[in-house]
Amino acid sequence: MSLKADELLKRIDPRRLPRHVAVIMDGNGRWAKKRGLPRLMGHRAGAESVREMVRVCGDLGIEVLTLYAFSTENWLRPAAEVKGLMTLLVKTLRRETADLDRNNVRLRAIGRLDKLPAEVQRELHQAMSALADNSGLILNLALNYGSRQEIVDSVNALLREGVTAVEEKDISRRLYTAGLPDPDLLIRTSGEYRLSNFLLWQCAYTELYVCSHYWPEFRRAQFYEALLNYQSRERRFGGLGGT
Ligand code: IPE
Ligand code: IPE
Ligand code: MG
Repeated sequence: MSLKADELLKRIDPRRLPRHVAVIMDGNGRWAKKRGLPRLMGHRAGAESVREMVRVCGDLGIEVLTLYAFSTENWLRPAAEVKGLMTLLVKTLRRETADLDRNNVRLRAIGRLDKLPAEVQRELHQAMSALADNSGLILNLALNYGSRQEIVDSVNALLREGVTAVEEKDISRRLYTAGLPDPDLLIRTSGEYRLSNFLLWQCAYTELYVCSHYWPEFRRAQFYEALLNYQSRERRFGGLGGT
């Protein structure tokens, strides 16, 4: 595995890396089911993939990694799974903050954070302030995140400012992602070809990459494959491209 990953790494052009990678981490439940395990074990295994992705993105010098960890629609799941996910989040933040700090990672979160359980909010803010002075990778966690809600929140914030007409840049500066570049690459695991209410505005010209691996199987080598695929694309932004 590591040999293959190292081979792939050699083929990546360090000058043409995406600045911002966003990931819809999907398939934890199916990964667990395939092994006869409870869904929560899939989420736990998925946390290991997060760890690896953060490390690899930092090493490559990628600027922003946005991870879709909990959507506004995920509250529809059974209460026990939601509770399990929130507990996993608290424990992971607690366990990983020191390591993130050693790796110079900054933490940011997008979503309706004020509706998350108090303990999650507390842990999140503690981790964000502990990492605030770092200057490396921005790890951006989408938590209780819904893209339509984000756009509505942006428009309402603009109305409160008293604006009477809006331009694209006004909407952008009031999104939760204000100040971040739009994603260059969006990865979705587990073979589903949908956006599930993720970064609808920001992904207008993002390159999409879907792979069939479940999220807990998505590790260094799979990420390098995604990057190589990204580097094989011609981004045209509506023009004619070409160099
Ligand atoms: C992604 O895995 C994690 C979250 C949505 C929190 P899923 O839990 O959606 O796994 P599947 O899609 O049921 O396999
Ligand atoms: C998207 O996955 C949300 C996250 C990865 C957090 P879902 O599993 O919730 O999406 P759908 O329901 O398959 O569209
Ligand atoms: Mg899913």
